[in-house]
Amino acid sequence: MPLKRELGLFSTTLYGTGVIIGAGIYALIGVGAGLAGNMLWAAFLISAAIAIFTGLSYAELSSMFPKEAAEYTYTRKAFKKEVLSFAVGWLLAIGTVIAASTVALGFAGYFSALFGGEPKLIAAGLILVMTALNYIGIKESAMFNNFSSVLEILGLLIVVAIGFVIASPMPVHADLFQMPATGFAGIMAAVSVIFFAYIGFENVANMAEEVKESRKIVPKALLLSLAISTVLYMLVAIASVSRVGWEALSQSKAPLMLVVSDALGPYAVVMSFIALFATANTALIFLIASSRMLYGMAHKGSLSPGFSLIGSRGTPYLSVLLVGLVAAAVSYATDIKTVAQMADLAVFMAYLAVNAVLIVLAGSKLKREFMSPRVFGIPVLAYLGVISAFIMLLHFELNMWLMEVVVLGVGATLFLMNKRSR
Ligand code: ALA
Repeated sequence: MPLKRELGLFSTTLYGTGVIIGAGIYALIGVGAGLAGNMLWAAFLISAAIAIFTGLSYAELSSMFPKEAAEYTYTRKAFKKEVLSFAVGWLLAIGTVIAASTVALGFAGYFSALFGGEPKLIAAGLILVMTALNYIGIKESAMFNNFSSVLEILGLLIVVAIGFVIASPMPVHADLFQMPATGFAGIMAAVSVIFFAYIGFENVANMAEEVKESRKIVPKALLLSLAISTVLYMLVAIASVSRVGWEALSQSKAPLMLVVSDALGPYAVVMSFIALFATANTALIFLIASSRMLYGMAHKGSLSPGFSLIGSRGTPYLSVLLVGLVAAAVSYATDIKTVAQMADLAVFMAYLAVNAVLIVLAGSKLKREFMSPRVFGIPVLAYLGVISAFIMLLHFELNMWLMEVVVLGVGATLFLMNKRSR
């Protein structure tokens, strides 16, 4: 039975804004400021452009293939190689595990600023608690998610209000066009970290079957939710560097609390509680999502059937356990910048593939409700998507690539072992 088309432009945009804005900015704004300095806002703007190119490719692909089909299926249709589609699915699944470690480390920063304690242990502990919830099969209800999105956005609005209204003029006279010491490369390095704050926009494209007149509304809602998030992120970035200066921001474990602390005095802890709530909730969502991705790949026969075993709680317990242990170990062993970049590197590779898929399928006869804009029949934005993702890939350090090669190597081994045993 087809899904009911109920969502209009307003609710789809609201949904999109809710999935984009999350714990990312709470956790990573300090790291971003350390790399881009006063021009942190520009890093958010560049990230948004990449998200728009790729988002429109997702919108077209999701209007060609059924709802439950995503990157894995797209790649399979275009390149007809199981190993390639497995690699994309695997990268995204592991990227999502690592994303859980990233927000857990963000949680640990705010937690330790309030209560003390060793951040790495706190992060790993949070992951283990959330893994238990993931195993129990806690229902992340839509209402709870909407509530947390509202709270996260409210927190950012507090920062903007304090920055621009309550504390005007700004205590720090930041020159917003002052390049970081490392120049443009510094801004791109910041993009490689804070792009994380945009991950999730592709879900708007995947809503197509539930949206009225999706051909018109989905791309509009996608662009609108990216625009709203970008404006909010840029305002938060400008308010933050102008209130406390990028240096102090980059050294803080609880950056957004620092921004509001002298304006709100003891009430600034509210900001920390919002950050704790946002990061804990997002960690759980990532753990749930990644364990279900592994489950899905096993279900399709690309991973050992063990990953799709369902326990008495109705959850894929081996996937849940594995994802939890890996995320806990990663957050214990690394730092927040490294894990954010690893997660982003994985998604940039996947975006490169998704845009390439659209280029390959651009001329196919497959029916589609929406088309990414064409110039002389060429999907120009998909090309820009490939180019921008490729340029981003050049901005990751060698050790990041080595870690990603290890991730792919582990995936390839599991894939081959499964093939052999079948
Ligand atoms: N964009 C999501 C966030 O910032 C991942 O939490």
